[in-house]
Amino acid sequence: MGRFENRVVLVTGAASGIGRAVAERLAAEGARLCALDVQEEALSSLGADLRPAEVETRRCDVSDEAEVEASVAACVARFGRLDALVNVAAILRADLLHELRTEDWNRVIAINLSGTFFTCRAALPHLLESRGNIVNVSSTAAVHGQPYAGAYAASKGGVLALTKSIAIDYGKLGVRANAVLPCDIATPIFGQFQMPEGGDWKLVKRVMAPKGSGSPADVAGVVAMLASDDGAHVTGAEVRVDGGCFA
Ligand SMILES: NC(=O)c1ccc[n+]([C@@H]2O[C@H](COP(=O)([O-])OP(=O)(O)OC[C@H]3O[C@@H](n4cnc5c(N)ncnc54)[C@H](O)[C@@H]3O)[C@@H](O)[C@H]2O)c1
Repeated sequence: MGRFENRVVLVTGAASGIGRAVAERLAAEGARLCALDVQEEALSSLGADLRPAEVETRRCDVSDEAEVEASVAACVARFGRLDALVNVAAILRADLLHELRTEDWNRVIAINLSGTFFTCRAALPHLLESRGNIVNVSSTAAVHGQPYAGAYAASKGGVLALTKSIAIDYGKLGVRANAVLPCDIATPIFGQFQMPEGGDWKLVKRVMAPKGSGSPADVAGVVAMLASDDGAHVTGAEVRVDGGCFA
């Protein structure tokens, strides 16, 4: 029997990379899933790939609080409960801070940080009923910064602080919250990185794992542990999956 039999999990950013690997891993362990993303075609192919697992796929921009509220409500309407929320959706923008446009700063914060807040807020009443848990995908950027990614690092620091605060506020009520901090995982997000003019590759190499890049499945296994009963005594934790980038 899988660790997620009879459990319902909502995953954001499920169409690609780490989110997709999380959806695949949880479905393989018996979860019923609500998979959210803005990439509709990739979401449909995820739903087809995961059959016969029960998967509700839905286009949802996590920066839109009304869409988030409606998506969480649709998930609970379909499956009748919610046991875990895994926040994976994010974008990366690369700039030197003095050249970063306000609209790019706002977009990164809106998706990566406000989006995480919106899903947590909408999911918590249901997680309180199920004594469920939240896993938020932050980044080692939250604690070490990241070259040419000030907005991204700030958003991920916010996600980490939000996660720890949820763990404090809701721990007594039986809801856990943990953060996973990946670094150097081979996914399409790297396509969003463009070296700023005059940038220094030596700085970028600081966030490359000495043993080579990890895979989305490497992160998914850790997320699955934290979201399952194997993580029953783990809350408020920041778990690095960084291949030794900062060892
Ligand atoms: N790949 C890495 O090395 C690395 C390192 C540290 C942290 N992370 C984090 O891991 C998570 C997954 O990233 P990934 O590497 O798999 O990249 P990815 O680009 O493959 O996945 C991100 C997903 O988020 C979705 N998304 C973007 N904006 C959205 C929005 N407004 N609403 C809903 N979905 C949206 C994208 O469509 C995509 O499917 C992110 O939170 C990222 O910050 C990745």
